[in-house]
Amino acid sequence: MNIVDVIEKKRDKQALTKEEINYFIDGFVKGEIKDYQASALLMAIVLNGMSNQETVDLTNAMLYSGDISDLSSIPGLKCDKHSTGGVGDKVSLVLAPLLASANATIAKMSGRGLGHTGGTLDKLEAIPGFRIELSTEEFLETLKKHHLSIIGQSGNIVPADKKLYALRDVTGTVQSIPLIASSIMSKKLASGSDTILLDVKVGKGAFMKDEAQARELAHTMVDIGKSLNKDVKAVITDMNQPLGYAIGNSLEVIEVIDTLHNKGPQDLTEISLKLGAIMLVQVKIVANEEEGYNLLKSKLEDGSAFNKFREMVIAQGGDVSVIDDPSKFVKAKYSSDIKSSKAGYLHEIDALKVGHVALELGAGRHKKEDAIDYAAGIILKHKVNDKIEVGEVIGTLYSDKEIPESLEDLFKESLSITDTKNEDTSLIKEIIT
Ligand code: URA
Repeated sequence: MNIVDVIEKKRDKQALTKEEINYFIDGFVKGEIKDYQASALLMAIVLNGMSNQETVDLTNAMLYSGDISDLSSIPGLKCDKHSTGGVGDKVSLVLAPLLASANATIAKMSGRGLGHTGGTLDKLEAIPGFRIELSTEEFLETLKKHHLSIIGQSGNIVPADKKLYALRDVTGTVQSIPLIASSIMSKKLASGSDTILLDVKVGKGAFMKDEAQARELAHTMVDIGKSLNKDVKAVITDMNQPLGYAIGNSLEVIEVIDTLHNKGPQDLTEISLKLGAIMLVQVKIVANEEEGYNLLKSKLEDGSAFNKFREMVIAQGGDVSVIDDPSKFVKAKYSSDIKSSKAGYLHEIDALKVGHVALELGAGRHKKEDAIDYAAGIILKHKVNDKIEVGEVIGTLYSDKEIPESLEDLFKESLSITDTKNEDTSLIKEIIT
């Protein structure tokens, strides 16, 4: 086989065979197929697409490019959840202890934030001492004892994606449904859980800007799961405003703690309960979503979800005293209250712009190697459709660096205040099974 023939075939809009896809992934991981050849093929895929069969074959080839996590020593069905990424998206940190408190086992390999979106691992590392790198034995032991563990992806899980994603990032080839679907699904399938729930975010702060695109991505990923006999479901959820009020690592962990005490924001609590209910049905702990929702609600109310979070923090080396007393989290040196110059209803919060403000305050990274300021971020004072008066504080910015006026202005610009309410604020748009 010859890689030039494979590139030309995709350039000419023909479907690739399983053998050709395996040949590409294998040769690329070994370094025999060069970056410039892989880039050409990736661009041909971006422009000409892939059939469902090609996308399944690509996912499989990537999945088997490295190690597959073996969770068979843990009793019962294991569940996992993945979000395509958003602003203020701390759902995994609420959901994991919530599910574990209802006896579901959740084995989660999470990622870091890049650009305007946050990452679960960075949020966990805001807890002093928390270890996101556990040996396989420690990971399995934590799962057996506590029913939950959240770690970073181990070294040799889907090496094909690591290499391909780095190349896509610098060659304008990220935006492609078959490439995004195979990238996400190969990693989720390699993590070894029995069931997967995908939270596909849609809106200004998400990868997928409109519902049609989000639906296509969700269907593609659910279909990949079906053809590989995995229970995969997807929900399409709103990212037209950040989730909850907090954006930034320590600030979000504090909001998670409030939510686990059943005193959190309504949207974050609701989405966690609804997603959790679907996952409890997937692992057959309950017969239907209503039963799951009620069970999880009782776990928030009686404190067992919070206790599970504490258990995980202790098991993974974190300082539990900051969980018990969040005022102990390190505070930012500078803060700035932003006041509204208009009266009306908060019509929209541009999650993308707000994400950029948080990034510039120090809550995120421009490049992988950049350090994070864990205390940096934003506390929003309002959600969409709240009534705002002139001069009222609409948000507070936090940073270890002096906060420039340009960032205060960008934050102000990201909130649109109008005379009318916003009609479309539904959080869960669709469930795809
Ligand atoms: N997230 C991934 O893991 N891969 C993509 O290609 C896009 C988002």
